[in-house]
Amino acid sequence: MRKNFILGLLAAAFCAFVGSAAMAQQPANFAGGGAETCLKCHNDTKVNPILQTPHAMKGDKHTPFGQQGCESCHGASAQHVASRSNKPEVIFKGANISPVEERNQICLSCHQSGARINWQGSQHASNDAACTNCHQVHVHKDPVLIKQTQAEKCFTCHAEQRSQIFRFSHHPIREGKVGCSDCHNPHGSAGPKLLKEVTVNEVCYNCHAEKRGPLAWEHQPVRENCLTCHNPHGSNQPRLLIQRAPYLCQECHTNSSHQAAPQSGQQLPGKTGFNGALSTNFRAFARGCVNCHSQIHGSNSPGGMWFTR
Ligand code: HEC
Ligand code: HEC
Ligand code: HEC
Ligand code: HEC
Ligand code: HEC
Ligand code: HEC
Ligand code: HEC
Ligand code: HEC
Ligand code: HEC
Ligand code: HEC
Repeated sequence: MRKNFILGLLAAAFCAFVGSAAMAQQPANFAGGGAETCLKCHNDTKVNPILQTPHAMKGDKHTPFGQQGCESCHGASAQHVASRSNKPEVIFKGANISPVEERNQICLSCHQSGARINWQGSQHASNDAACTNCHQVHVHKDPVLIKQTQAEKCFTCHAEQRSQIFRFSHHPIREGKVGCSDCHNPHGSAGPKLLKEVTVNEVCYNCHAEKRGPLAWEHQPVRENCLTCHNPHGSNQPRLLIQRAPYLCQECHTNSSHQAAPQSGQQLPGKTGFNGALSTNFRAFARGCVNCHSQIHGSNSPGGMWFTR
């Protein structure tokens, strides 16, 4: 009994010794020899398109191929090379896939800075998204980096935005002219909703610079938030509006001197039938608020205080 116990202790100590020795020697578990070692068996079309990508620039020591070759991403794989029943250390796909943190750690070891400075704690990181949910590396050109194909990748998880951009009025995303990443940084951001800028309006001004101003006559809600009136992805109303005029305007203008005010007793366009009467006021005809108030985003005209010019 006692003898067995002592033997057990000795065995445990021995294992611990061998274990730590193996740990210390881990770098020796790289098969080495660069990509060629692996390509002996893996030179097929699933794998070899990577040879035409920036990752395969052998002359650049920042790239995987400039370091441990395939093993820069798949980890030390000498045992796999010796016998296929051993798996490479890091697997990005399929039944033996490695945990998300392990996979992301590989990519972040080279890509932590720059656009990914806010990755930790971002919406995607904290919902266990992997770099490789969006990125493919064994292809000539990663589809998520191409405007025309990027959105499809996002739609695998964001079905609501997919239905929005198929609405009547939409940013030309499905036409391939605007990408999700023109407004969002999927790697994390200092602003809300993974936006590239700190506020919504700053995002919009990047392309609609004429709306930035400064303007002599400003329309307060425009300054505050474009999304008070617009949906950024798509809408069934014209011009990405969340509602048609006059309803849109009447959310706020219920007390104006003319027919903007339901309380005035005068009829409003579109309100016809609301209390059984027909609109007779010319101003209100055909939901025309912006027919007259055409400078709805603000005006620089000396007489533009009503946004009519
Ligand atoms: C002697 C041939 C051979 C060599 C050399 C080889 N592999 Fe493999 N590897 C295979 C085979 C065969 C499979 C498929 C095994 C299976 O399906 O179970 C495989 C599977 C893989 C997988 C997928 C594992 C999985 O479970 O999904 C990866 C990743 C991989 N190899 C990477 C490498 C890397 C990196 C190297 C070089 C360090 C390498 N292989 C060298 C034969 C080889
Ligand atoms: C930049 C990191 C990176 C490098 C370098 C890299 N891989 Fe991969 N590998 C991946 C990722 C990520 C996947 C998952 C599929 C994808 O994203 O295309 C993968 C998938 C694989 C698979 C599974 C293929 C499949 O479709 O089932 C094999 C095999 C493989 N890699 C072998 C290699 C070999 C061999 C090399 C070197 C020639 C290599 N990898 C270099 C990241 C890398
Ligand atoms: C050993 C360092 C290293 C590792 C590991 C690495 N990369 Fe890279 N990657 C680079 C370098 C260097 C470039 C080329 C310069 C650049 O664009 O930053 C690059 C380029 C890229 C690009 C731009 C490709 C293009 O066509 O312009 C993407 C996307 C990318 N890597 C994603 C990944 C992902 C995802 C992983 C993990 C699966 C990964 N990288 C792992 C070093 C690395
Ligand atoms: C939700 C999707 C998504 C995830 C998750 C994601 N990316 Fe990206 N990544 C993109 C998109 C979209 C672009 C193109 C950005 C652009 O065009 O401005 C990009 C661009 C890149 C680039 C090339 C341009 C650059 O910024 O240098 C690299 C490198 C990169 N990603 C690495 C990573 C790494 C590393 C991770 C994981 C920590 C990751 N990405 C996670 C979508 C994603
Ligand atoms: C693997 C699934 C997946 C993919 C692919 C993906 N996302 Fe996400 N995304 C999520 C999850 C999960 C969240 C957090 C929960 C939520 O808000 O829906 C999220 C959150 C977001 C948010 C922030 C929402 C908020 O409420 O703060 C934006 C913006 C976003 N994703 C944009 C993108 C873009 C752009 C792409 C493509 C480049 C993309 N996502 C690809 C899963 C994904
Ligand atoms: C023109 C700029 C723009 C483009 C292009 C764009 N978005 Fe957005 N997105 C926004 C703004 C602004 C918000 C913030 C909405 C809010 O605060 O209510 C947003 C919000 C989101 C949200 C969070 C929605 C919610 O209800 O919280 C997701 C997810 C999202 N976008 C995904 C995408 C995807 C996927 C694409 C590409 C198909 C895309 N976006 C393209 C501007 C844009
Ligand atoms: C990357 C550039 C870009 C950004 C950022 C951007 N837009 Fe646009 N926007 C466009 C383009 C391109 C069009 C289409 C112009 C055309 O068809 O003439 C457009 C059209 C519009 C339209 C008119 C739609 C129609 O049906 O005529 C509205 C409204 C609009 N954008 C609002 C916004 C708002 C609000 C934001 C901020 C959340 C924003 N945009 C951010 C590029 C951008
Ligand atoms: C008070 C509501 C409201 C707000 C807030 C608002 N818009 Fe508009 N926007 C409209 C209306 C109404 C139209 C349609 C005008 C028309 O049909 O003549 C429009 C049309 C547009 C158009 C297409 C026509 C044009 O003028 O180029 C763009 C682009 C646009 N808005 C961008 C923006 C941006 C960017 C912001 C934020 C800085 C913003 N809007 C804030 C109500 C608003
Ligand atoms: C989210 C609320 C909101 C919406 C929606 C809105 N406005 Fe305004 N509007 C305001 C505020 C606040 C002012 C500034 C009022 C003030 O200074 O007394 C203003 C000012 C105006 C003025 C200048 C006259 C004045 O009293 O300063 C006109 C004209 C006007 N809005 C028309 C419209 C029209 C037309 C629409 C619809 C396309 C609209 N507004 C939508 C909030 C809104
Ligand atoms: C036929 C042109 C015309 C139409 C249509 C029109 N307006 Fe006006 N609006 C004006 C003019 C001109 C003024 C300047 C003051 C005045 O003459 O009453 C004005 C003033 C205003 C004011 C600021 C003065 C006040 O009384 O608060 C608001 C707000 C306003 N309009 C909102 C609207 C809304 C909302 C609609 C759509 C239901 C609308 N307008 C339709 C021409 C028009």
